[in-house]
Amino acid sequence: EKGNYRHFMQKEIFEQPTVVAQTLHSYLRPVEQQVALPQIDFDISAIDRVTIVACGTSYYAGMVAKYWFERFARVPVDIDFASEFRYREPVLPEGGLALFISQSGETADTLAALRHCREQGQVIAAVVNVPTSSMAREADLLLPTHAGPEIGVASTKAFTCQLAVLAALAAHFAVKKGRLSRAEEAKIVDHLLEAPACLNAALDHDDDIAAMAHLIAPARDVLYLGRGADFPLALEGALKLKEISYIHAEGYASGEMKHGPIALIDEEVPVIVLAPSGPLFEKTVSNMQEVQARGGKVVLISDAEGIAQAGEDCMATIQMPTVHPLIAPLVYAVPVQLLAYHVAVLKGTDVDQPRNLAKSVTVE
Ligand code: F6R
Repeated sequence: EKGNYRHFMQKEIFEQPTVVAQTLHSYLRPVEQQVALPQIDFDISAIDRVTIVACGTSYYAGMVAKYWFERFARVPVDIDFASEFRYREPVLPEGGLALFISQSGETADTLAALRHCREQGQVIAAVVNVPTSSMAREADLLLPTHAGPEIGVASTKAFTCQLAVLAALAAHFAVKKGRLSRAEEAKIVDHLLEAPACLNAALDHDDDIAAMAHLIAPARDVLYLGRGADFPLALEGALKLKEISYIHAEGYASGEMKHGPIALIDEEVPVIVLAPSGPLFEKTVSNMQEVQARGGKVVLISDAEGIAQAGEDCMATIQMPTVHPLIAPLVYAVPVQLLAYHVAVLKGTDVDQPRNLAKSVTVE
């Protein structure tokens, strides 16, 4: 079943262009350049607050979605870990939209939060990869990801498919709220349709990433930095590395470094910086220089322009294709997945079945 791949995780990373295209196919009309969501029997334009609840990698997809919903649809978004959500006694507006994101559709904390929201009169939407799952059955609005079965315990292709659905949902929201013109919607659709080719271009750097993994494998701690919608990717990169290589890793919002974590920096702590060129690039680079000034060793993941501008003093660079900021979170998922994968292979861990973890967490 693994075909030419050594691990399911590796196979699933490489499936992303195909499964993201499949997923987008059911949410976009390429010819009309329109977003097309499943038929819904409530007025989405009436919703003026969204509550997102999920765990782990699915939670990070939700964090990216918060940036998109707020930027495009101007709808305020609350997001919480499912395990925290119910116990903080959240204030939920009557008729608000509660959005659950889950690969398995069975995660106990997320499912409990879904049932709680139903009791609180929320409209329930679920982005789920397993169509027969409890969450899929219990949602008012089911938004399936078409990633196919994910076998590797560390989630990869489900994440990028979740992002694809959430981007389409954000655009749909924005259209219904009158925040996007037809021309702007068409542009967003075109950018999303570019994602599979950009994912392929990112995967082309697999060999470069494999070749530099030995710089990370000996580390005891690794930090990841990102800004804006790429900040959740820093968290995701750190989670992937922890899960499968057992190296301690943390993700931070680039600008938060100087408020504490920078105390950790020395030559022994590699810092992975996710910085596509664009409006936030300069700021992230200055955070990166703060790290370098303290002897920190940086791996810069950026595009050709970003690397030309800021790659010189880095320990290594990983070049990504030049992409529209909307799809950067999908594309930058690839290098962080591959880096974790190759480091884990070097360390000889059980990549598909990491210790202490299960594919579906059905206890609270
Ligand atoms: C990370 C990972 C976990 C899951 C989390 C939620 O690689 O796989 O963090 O993302 O347990 O699982 P789902 O999405 O099935 O609700």
